[in-house]
Amino acid sequence: MLDKKTRVPFYAQIADRIRAKVQNGDWLPREQIPPEAELCEHYQVSRITVRRAIAELVQEGYLVRFAGRGTFVAEPRFEHRISHLTSFTQDMEARGIRPGARMLKFEVLAPPPNLHWAFALHEVKRVILLRRLRLADDEPLALENSYLSWDLCASLLQEDLHDDSLYAALIRKCNVIPSRAIQQWTAIACPSEEARLLGISRGQPVLHIYRTTFSQDGLPFEWVESYYRGDKYSFQAELQAEYQPAGNS
Ligand code: GLP
Repeated sequence: MLDKKTRVPFYAQIADRIRAKVQNGDWLPREQIPPEAELCEHYQVSRITVRRAIAELVQEGYLVRFAGRGTFVAEPRFEHRISHLTSFTQDMEARGIRPGARMLKFEVLAPPPNLHWAFALHEVKRVILLRRLRLADDEPLALENSYLSWDLCASLLQEDLHDDSLYAALIRKCNVIPSRAIQQWTAIACPSEEARLLGISRGQPVLHIYRTTFSQDGLPFEWVESYYRGDKYSFQAELQAEYQPAGNS
């Protein structure tokens, strides 16, 4: 039953309950949710109120709506802890998901002008551009444009990186151990070319990520621009307070 005394609107209360059902696993991913009429009956509210609650949850990524077929529980997002430097392969394998990489480009070029700052003071004359579609259990999850320092990573060019881990190949072939990275995230509407490759609609939200990665010697070897599907991927951080609570001396 909904709480009629609080100021929380009915649609928000319904959204809270449905969200809890998804989070607790009462409603499972890909399961169809009850029809609107049933939800109206159950919560004793109008169709407009139920629709608003559902729209909210679609927006948040808990539910997906397919025209003519109904509303379903969305696939869970892949969560990533942001204090650890991991590769896509490690990230997926840790969750029991099969990682994949489809090669779209692998070529040597002069660094685009906007890249000079990324490699900081280290002058880089040539870079290797590696453009890959990253798959999770064969489904597109991210698109990565990695620019690698040719000086440090040239031996990679003899490798077949199809479905392979770039970081594992760097350790194996180039003696470059990814050791530290600086990463920045922004939410953007997916541009059309990237949307086509990711199998989503243009304008759908994606996480646009920049990463500069440093080797064990502190040298920047990689600058990556990636697009992660916003409906499939989220980041999780553990936060420590900088102060000590009073009484804890
Ligand atoms: C993550 C990072 C990329 C990095 C990639 C390497 O996705 N965002 O910057 O290039 O991992 O992953 P893998 O070793 O699986 O190719």
